[in-house]
Amino acid sequence: MRNVFVAGGTTGMGRAIADHYLGQGARVTVVGSTPSRGERFLADAAAAGAGDRASFVHADLLSIAENHRVVEELRARHDSLDAVVLAAMLPFVKRHETADGFEGSFVLYYLSRFVLSYRLTDLLERGDAPIITSIGATGITKGDVNWDDLQSTRNYSAVRTTISSGRANDLLGVHYLQNHPDGRTKYLQLRPPYTRSGTNHLPQPYRAAASVLARLFATPPERSVRSTLELMDHQPPERLVLRAVDKPVDPGLATFDPDKARRLYDLTAHVLDPTRWSTDVSRDGR
Ligand SMILES: NC(=O)c1ccc[n+]([C@@H]2O[C@H](COP(=O)([O-])OP(=O)(O)OC[C@H]3O[C@@H](n4cnc5c(N)ncnc54)[C@H](OP(=O)(O)O)[C@@H]3O)[C@@H](O)[C@H]2O)c1
Repeated sequence: MRNVFVAGGTTGMGRAIADHYLGQGARVTVVGSTPSRGERFLADAAAAGAGDRASFVHADLLSIAENHRVVEELRARHDSLDAVVLAAMLPFVKRHETADGFEGSFVLYYLSRFVLSYRLTDLLERGDAPIITSIGATGITKGDVNWDDLQSTRNYSAVRTTISSGRANDLLGVHYLQNHPDGRTKYLQLRPPYTRSGTNHLPQPYRAAASVLARLFATPPERSVRSTLELMDHQPPERLVLRAVDKPVDPGLATFDPDKARRLYDLTAHVLDPTRWSTDVSRDGR
């Protein structure tokens, strides 16, 4: 039986991927921060006859400790993982500082995905054709990681910070593979088409505007993820798989620069608790 984990699997594209794998007979665990959305996922799974294979872990991935707890919960539920899907994200119109002192989008787009990717490696390496799928902004070449101010403490701009976190997200797959050169796990980084989000966490009046635009122009999540599921189920030979709205992306782009990836990894190992993130520890996936 396949085992699938979806961070941000209670709505939108994450939920569509979770539903697909439940329908295929997999055991699926999803994480979200709103209990009612998790309960709806479980109720729908039960109604479809898949209740015994569906789990919901209620966690706020903005907290680093919660990411580590999620890893422990997954170890209790799954002996191996075939797919880890990273889809949790929120828009932060104003700067949001987490309890750990990090900026919010940097956590959801990068640090949370870092912890989940690295620490779930041992479960993935026991999986069948294992793959990490990170839904982000792959192929956008605008901007760079805000190297001098990773937590966007100065002159916060939602656009600049989201771009910086997106560029960090691009480099995550690169340094993950640098640190696991002999692994089997592939890293799929993609930018989806404009998709009707299931949450729309924006404050007004942005929320109303986003709803109207989404109704007019956005693709339903089930349709957006079709090509992603196809890629996950029929994987290309390369380990770093890059797609932007279904089109292959050149791994030679500056946004996947191997030296920048190493630099970001070193900075990350420094900002996260070094006793848990020394290089040897993370290479073991623990
Ligand atoms: N929609 C688009 O057009 C588009 C375009 C480009 C990239 N993307 C990226 O694609 C991914 C999925 O987008 P989507 O539109 O499908 O998203 P969505 O419907 O808004 O779903 C986001 C998921 O993440 C969860 N989540 C958010 N904050 C969380 C937190 N702090 N802790 C735990 N879970 C959290 C949400 O549940 P709770 O809110 O209950 O926590 C939900 O399950 C995101 O990374 C997004 O940046 C989307």
